[in-house]
Amino acid sequence: MSHNDSDSDDRLWGGRFQEPTDAFVQAFTASVDFDRRLAEVDIEGSLAHARMLRRIAVLDDDELSAIEKGLQQIREEIAAGDFPWSVEREDVHMNIEARLTALIGDAGKKLHTGRSRNDQIATDIRLYLRREIARAQELIRDFQRGLLDLAEHHADTILPGFTHLQVAQPITFGHHMLAWFEMLERDHGRLSDCADRMNVMPLGAAALAGTSYPLDRAYTAELLGFSMPARNSLDAVSDRDFAIEFSAAAALVMMHLSRMAEELVLWSSAQFDFIRLPDRYCTGSSIMPQKKNPDVPELVRGKSGRVFGHLVSLLTLMKSQPLAYNKDNQEDKEPLFDTLDTLLGSLRAFADMVPNLEVNADAMREAARRGFATATDLADYLVKRGLPFRDAHEVVGKAVAHALNKGCDLSDLDLAELQSFDSRIGEDVFEVLTLEGSVNARDITGGTAPRQVRLQVAQLRELIGTG
Ligand code: ARG
Repeated sequence: MSHNDSDSDDRLWGGRFQEPTDAFVQAFTASVDFDRRLAEVDIEGSLAHARMLRRIAVLDDDELSAIEKGLQQIREEIAAGDFPWSVEREDVHMNIEARLTALIGDAGKKLHTGRSRNDQIATDIRLYLRREIARAQELIRDFQRGLLDLAEHHADTILPGFTHLQVAQPITFGHHMLAWFEMLERDHGRLSDCADRMNVMPLGAAALAGTSYPLDRAYTAELLGFSMPARNSLDAVSDRDFAIEFSAAAALVMMHLSRMAEELVLWSSAQFDFIRLPDRYCTGSSIMPQKKNPDVPELVRGKSGRVFGHLVSLLTLMKSQPLAYNKDNQEDKEPLFDTLDTLLGSLRAFADMVPNLEVNADAMREAARRGFATATDLADYLVKRGLPFRDAHEVVGKAVAHALNKGCDLSDLDLAELQSFDSRIGEDVFEVLTLEGSVNARDITGGTAPRQVRLQVAQLRELIGTG
């Protein structure tokens, strides 16, 4: 059959039309090529709706069991790849409904009683996102557990901490990993918040105004694991704020991953040489034999851009839309699906790659030693001996300039040289000028001292459980 002579049987809404849909328009408006990803949750929603229709006696036992069997067969056909998807049936909902009727006859035609594709799609996306958010959260937890192991293992490993990408103060590698943990912890919480808020059920809103059938919405909601039926039918079918909220949460995860990615790229360069990424996460160059490129962190850094873009797409899609449902909303799916694919893929890669990176503790230590990372400690030492902080800052600045001139570190100056900057300096100064002295001194909640890192690892293990 050509696109232009589809008869009214083919179009589930064909009754009021005098001419067939233009073939181009049909292809242009169809969404089945991408919304078929929702088939599984669409069937789940239909099964719950059918069971509720049985409960209120719109369906009898035979009809319900025919629908259940038919939907089960459709599930199997889809899984086996031999479901007859058709663009003429526009979207996932009508493809499944038409197939159901072809398989079981009249009972199939009753399934849509008291329902519209508007409340159906709003339900499907929620069911789908809810499941995928749970997967993203599991990956975040895997990643966090890997970070805790790494942090514990490297609670004492020293590296320079940076501000402005200039060596600032010595820190511990474990402390740095725990900073990444915290970013992910907030990401995890944001995903939980948005999953909770989205977990209300649109079914029963029908097209926009509710339905005249006495649907038992609470029962359907319970069957589908929603916390309650949506309170307002207009809002239920029309808003996609929950999708935007998810995209914003995903954008923040990607922003965090891009920051980690940037550090991994820097650290694995020959100039830093702080870490080696697992070979299986890198590629070589076809021309330069010495190269081992950090492709995966670079790609994740790059992919953050498309997720930010999808967030803006969805905001713009929703902006100024009058109530209630508008076809604009069909455009929510491709950005959402790509956001999910990007998010899950990036998290999966990082959850495995980062915990398995190899740490070059010698290079990190050497970089911290060379960067006057303990200058603040010398200033604090002078303050503890009675010098006001601003004066101490000035004194240490001069000592640093002197060491720079000599081409050595502060800890390489002898006591007499140090005393020439301030007579309060004594033999014990060398304890604070060492890297270990410096990190151990920051033994305050949230600080970089190895003792704090170990304490925090234990607390954070408790917090996220072994799940
Ligand atoms: N494919 C549509 C969407 O994604 C389903 C709802 C269509 N409703 C309608 N009245 N055309 O939003």
